[in-house]
Amino acid sequence: MTAGDAREVPSDPVYFDYNATTPLDAGVREAMLPFLGANWGNPSSVHSIGRTARAALDEARYRLAGHWRCRPSEVVFTGGGTESNNLAIFGIARLLRSKGRHLICSSVEHPAVLHAFRFLERHEGFEVTYLPVDTSGRVSVDSVEAALRPETVLVSVMAANNEVGTLQPVAEIGRLCRQRGVLFHTDAVQAFGKIPFQDIHQFEADLVSVCAHKFHGPKGAGALFVKSPLQPLPTQVGGGHENERRAGTENLAAIVGLAVAFERCVVTPAFDASALLPLTERLAAAAAAIPGVTLRHAPEGRLANTIAFSVEGTDGIALMATLDLEGICASSGSACSAGSLEPSHVLSAMGVPAAAANALVRFSLGRDSTEAEVDRVAAVLPGLIQRLRNSR
Ligand SMILES: Cc1ncc(COP(=O)(O)O)c(C=O)c1O
Repeated sequence: MTAGDAREVPSDPVYFDYNATTPLDAGVREAMLPFLGANWGNPSSVHSIGRTARAALDEARYRLAGHWRCRPSEVVFTGGGTESNNLAIFGIARLLRSKGRHLICSSVEHPAVLHAFRFLERHEGFEVTYLPVDTSGRVSVDSVEAALRPETVLVSVMAANNEVGTLQPVAEIGRLCRQRGVLFHTDAVQAFGKIPFQDIHQFEADLVSVCAHKFHGPKGAGALFVKSPLQPLPTQVGGGHENERRAGTENLAAIVGLAVAFERCVVTPAFDASALLPLTERLAAAAAAIPGVTLRHAPEGRLANTIAFSVEGTDGIALMATLDLEGICASSGSACSAGSLEPSHVLSAMGVPAAAANALVRFSLGRDSTEAEVDRVAAVLPGLIQRLRNSR
């Protein structure tokens, strides 16, 4: 805080922004500590200190592959969700460009997906079909089928939307793509830890993006499942790390943190839907009772921890600032667009008019969220919105 910033940080903030990030799990932190201390070697070094690091890297990969029920060689460690998405999309599109230059993604993808497709379209001669969604933000399998062409090489549809929580029919889309001989990628970053996990094949995808800090792991750690024998072209070149798929000395502490967080917070989901659904329903009912508030999350088939609503006569930035002053941490959509006055592209794709798409509140709850916090937010929300409207 600077001298000119008179704002106090509330002593007991309510954190309802778990889709943006989650606190590091204590057990994960514990597991990471040796790799920020005694075990500091470079896994590529051939000497004993390097070999100790290599053993830990291999173990993290084997453990993750065990839970995913895939081969260890099908796990690529990355620097997070954005990088996993970029590697999948750029890596596959460029690999298969001589086969075809048509790509498909949904119009509600995270910018880490959407902007990769736009880049390929603007700079590398690809054509992209952006699939429409219905009013709850869902892609239809029929629309994927209708968009497929002989020259389509990749389809990408997210498993769960970060802004409104809508679950997509990814397994059905994946099966369709396989029948048609087209590769399928899913950005499952928001799904892990929030929906039941069987194994990585439940998404029926050739490539699946994972991001540790969304399930109580460290930031800057991600992974990409790449079905064998696919070999996406690297987006980062240098050494032969990750089997020539991602150059750069591995961030071992973060990788170990990712693997342990997966075990602790995804295998048994840290976001307990049966506990979170009543909380978000209660919060949604309180919001919906305020005049001019419209619920925007999917009525069904959504992440249990996520609700979203638009507030007539306000805008997202003012809403976030006022909530923050009350000690309530929320989001107005994708964290990447915070500070910008662009309407939410997700709400726009759902057919919501620009003024409402620009006044979105997303509450995403997590394992430490309580009924008392929900009641506190529900109690202040009507007055807060009224004050905001009066000040305009
Ligand atoms: C659906 C989705 N994909 C990808 C990302 C990118 O993750 P990161 O910013 O950690 O790279 C996010 C983060 O909000 C996300 O919600």
